[in-house]
Amino acid sequence: MKITFFGAKSYDRESFNRISGQYPQLEMEFREAELSPETAYYIENSEAVCAFVSADLGTKVIHILHERGVKLILMRCAGYNNVDLDTASEFGIKVMRVPEYSPEAVAEHAMALALAVSRRLHKAYFKVKENNYSLNGLEGKNFYGKTAGIVGTGKIGAAMARICRGFGMKVIACDTYPRKDLDFIEYVELDELLATSNLVSLHCPLTADTYHMIDIEAIKKMRNNVVLINTSRGGLIKTEDLIAGIREEKFFGVGLDVYEEETCNVFENHEDDIMMHSTTARLLSFPNVIITSHQAFFTEEALSAISETTLNNAMAYLKGENTDTELN
Ligand code: NAI
Repeated sequence: MKITFFGAKSYDRESFNRISGQYPQLEMEFREAELSPETAYYIENSEAVCAFVSADLGTKVIHILHERGVKLILMRCAGYNNVDLDTASEFGIKVMRVPEYSPEAVAEHAMALALAVSRRLHKAYFKVKENNYSLNGLEGKNFYGKTAGIVGTGKIGAAMARICRGFGMKVIACDTYPRKDLDFIEYVELDELLATSNLVSLHCPLTADTYHMIDIEAIKKMRNNVVLINTSRGGLIKTEDLIAGIREEKFFGVGLDVYEEETCNVFENHEDDIMMHSTTARLLSFPNVIITSHQAFFTEEALSAISETTLNNAMAYLKGENTDTELN
């Protein structure tokens, strides 16, 4: 079976090619272009496509995939809010994903952002590089003894909760389905979490219910000097309201690995381009905001797990086996 990869970077090729010998039944074609209504026409004689978080797998693209004879969409990521599952199902196109590749990779990045922003590492790095050893502007805050509020205690949220516990924090959380195994967590309602947490970290998926869950009303409920971290999906936070909250000095720091306008930025080098998104520029202008470009997953261990599960998904499809990685 031929699989056409979209949005394939050098590191994707390397990690898939490293294990390709174990899957002689699979032929892989790598395309750097992102999947979109324009690029979907590139597909030729491929029963499967493999795509990542910033691919467009909306209704139009699914129609084109169907016309091109695609029967299988292999998402090489956990999130699938960019896939029109209903239309895929209508056309009998199976969609599979990698539900878990390294929750710890994402949680460790969330804590890295929290620490960096709260200890002003982003400023310290450049100051020292410029031979400036003054501590002005670098005063941070301890996490030890403070309260961490985890929104969504699935695989990544649970890993983040464990890290926060290790830092000596009290850990509270909210989740539609509280877990009994995380006995060190106190579950509360979102409003209470926002009102009492010194660190709020978002780990729930983007759905109709969670879209813009952090808007100006939610921000007003937060305690002053809170650190807000989002490694989940940009749409959880209403950016305009976040900017308003930052201007009102609500936050000690904000760390974003994802943000609403990221799609045209993610994984691309735009260093010679004029920045077209004023919201991104405004976010970047604040001294207490750190943005990374959807890199929380990006570790050697996670890439290996992604390639292995994706190719195992393709093999399960070929053998007609059911797996818990199917989305429809
Ligand atoms: P998961 O499915 O294991 O956990 C999500 C949790 O959120 C579940 O426990 C669910 O009950 C809870 N939840 C759903 N709606 C909620 C609500 N309204 N309020 C509170 N909790 C709610 O997912 P996992 O693997 O932990 O991933 C979480 C998110 O992280 C993914 O949806 C994805 O968007 C994002 N992600 C980001 C990556 C990155 O590189 N930045 C990499 C991988 C995932």
